[in-house]
Amino acid sequence: MGRGFEIEQVEPMSELMDKRNSPQPNITVPDFPNVVNVEVYRGNCPCRCVHCPVGTAPPAQRKQIFGAGEISLSLFRKIAEEISTHSTPVLRIHSTGEPLLWQKLPNAMDILKKTRTKSWLFTSAVTTDKSLLAAICEAVRIIEVSVNSISAEDYRSTKGIDAFALVMENIRYMRGVIGQEKSRRLIVSRVESGRGDVDNEFVSYWKSSNLVDDAFIRSRHTYNGLLPELMQGPPLVAKKEPCLVHWARFNIGLGGQAIVCFNELFKNNIDRSLILGDVNIELIAEIWKGAKLAALRRAELTGDYSELTYEDVLPCKNCTSCQPLFGSERKTSEYQLGQVE
Ligand SMILES: C[S@@+](CC[C@H](N)C(=O)[O-])C[C@H]1O[C@@H](n2cnc3c(N)ncnc32)[C@H](O)[C@@H]1O
Ligand code: SF4
Ligand code: SF4
Repeated sequence: MGRGFEIEQVEPMSELMDKRNSPQPNITVPDFPNVVNVEVYRGNCPCRCVHCPVGTAPPAQRKQIFGAGEISLSLFRKIAEEISTHSTPVLRIHSTGEPLLWQKLPNAMDILKKTRTKSWLFTSAVTTDKSLLAAICEAVRIIEVSVNSISAEDYRSTKGIDAFALVMENIRYMRGVIGQEKSRRLIVSRVESGRGDVDNEFVSYWKSSNLVDDAFIRSRHTYNGLLPELMQGPPLVAKKEPCLVHWARFNIGLGGQAIVCFNELFKNNIDRSLILGDVNIELIAEIWKGAKLAALRRAELTGDYSELTYEDVLPCKNCTSCQPLFGSERKTSEYQLGQVE
């Protein structure tokens, strides 16, 4: 099983999979990525998650370690407008920290509604601002709460703070606002802990709660080597096949830089050679179909990265968080997208 962010096979992927045994795979590149991850905010978070580089950094040092900043609304609008011209993709609001701390989140919600952009939000839901939660419920199609636990004690030991009761209250509140509307999904996730029984208990608890539309475990990754391996669980292994990210994901930092892998944004110095383009001045579609990503896809398919001048700094070559392009049975993001009416 791969150990990166969950991703699912999509229809176009089955087409890709049929071709995996051909000696020279002629793999179709979809016209547009299925999920566009957009970093909207960085620098802080109310939580201290044991599995996250932000959470494990002392709060007073986070701005220094990760920098502080937010995306401009004009760039956010440009991205939303381009995504909304395609029928399948989703704009996933991401953050090196907690997106609820982005002051302009309500304005971003208005943009999503006006452009009718399909969206997904990652959040801890640690807030006392119910009007913000209501605005999110009106604009976002998939709200994923990283509640990670089933009790105050479990929450404290994995999320590092005492906020289980607050997050539970917020999940109930959002369920009430969304009701049974099928065009929106409220889902909860937990990062793989290395203890299968505890992870399974999380899924059972939330699935039977009648509060959420789904509950699942995110495979734990190390943010491209930033975090140590799990003490428990199978050892990490370097990948043996291409990563689905390059065929189905697009990652944008808050300055508009399109980056090879979202996990790189958690490092304080992004190597410039890992930047694929600038979304301020280029279309996502142009970068997606551009020469740099084409060369990277070729290297991923053949295993020969020598054509790439940035081979030495590329995290993909021996990645232990790869999301296999072929043959994975995992239910991942496209599964959730497929459930939204
Ligand atoms: C980095 S957080 C940022 C957004 C927000 N603070 C949150 O927690 O949803 C985005 C997602 O990454 C997940 N995550 C954090 N550390 C992870 C890890 N080591 N492996 C896999 N997923 C992780 C979180 O649980 C969350 O669902
Ligand atoms: S809530 Fe999100 S950003 Fe904050 S520490 Fe946890 S995983 Fe990291
Ligand atoms: S193979 Fe590359 S894009 Fe895929 S998870 Fe690893 S570093 Fe990220």
